[in-house]
Amino acid sequence: MKVLFLGDIFGNPGREHATKELPWIVKNNEIDIVVTNGENAAGGIGITPAISDMLLNSGIDVLTSGNHIYKKREIYDYISNEPRLIKPANFPPETPGNGYYIFSNEKTGGIKIAVVNMCGRVFVENLDCPFRKMDEILEKISGITRLIIVDFHAEVTSEKVAMGWYLDGRVSAVIGTHTHIQTADERVLPGGTAFISDVGMVGSRDSVIGVRKDIIIEKFIKTMPQKFVVADGDVWINGAIIEINEKTGHAISISRLNYASG
Ligand SMILES: [Fe+2]
Ligand SMILES: [Fe+2]
Repeated sequence: MKVLFLGDIFGNPGREHATKELPWIVKNNEIDIVVTNGENAAGGIGITPAISDMLLNSGIDVLTSGNHIYKKREIYDYISNEPRLIKPANFPPETPGNGYYIFSNEKTGGIKIAVVNMCGRVFVENLDCPFRKMDEILEKISGITRLIIVDFHAEVTSEKVAMGWYLDGRVSAVIGTHTHIQTADERVLPGGTAFISDVGMVGSRDSVIGVRKDIIIEKFIKTMPQKFVVADGDVWINGAIIEINEKTGHAISISRLNYASG
């Protein structure tokens, strides 16, 4: 099975280019399933029900998220009723939504696949331990399917690399998100887990991780609060394609997707 994972979709430019390019990316690469991080889809921060619906109707099978998932209040009810949009599983149990989603459809040939979302703790939120939480979830779902994709939404490479090793052989892929900058360390670990520290974003490269660069430069220099504006020039599509052995759940290959959207 071939899974396309697209990095954080940033604002309207990210949404427009992702939905425009998705059909041919899927066709050209014979993709079965598309998973995308949507935490920045609404104006660069959070996601709304309308945007989630639009993305899920455009060929994306599962939307993961991250630290910005609850920035738009209208998503609270929606995420409780839409299992294809998932929250980081190590957020407090009182927060709305599920931390993983298991599904099968005609695209998977009836085979069940699980997508798990987890958030790092270093320089992010004060959350439950993502390592222990992964053990807890794997205990529940490993008997249901061996095809398991983990979006590990974290800031520092050390925490992400540690998670890759911790889950090696137990999940199909550990895909890093959150920094919006694609790393060049993709590989299949010895136990059969595909790994990349960060898959990047779908958004403007003429920016600082999606936001207009002049605003962020000024923020760093003056340290005063700034209103962030989504940048729209030079939009790039960052992602990864993971091929998985359907019998073992182990990854066969992982390759980066990284190109300028015209
Ligand atoms: Fe993000
Ligand atoms: Fe994030």
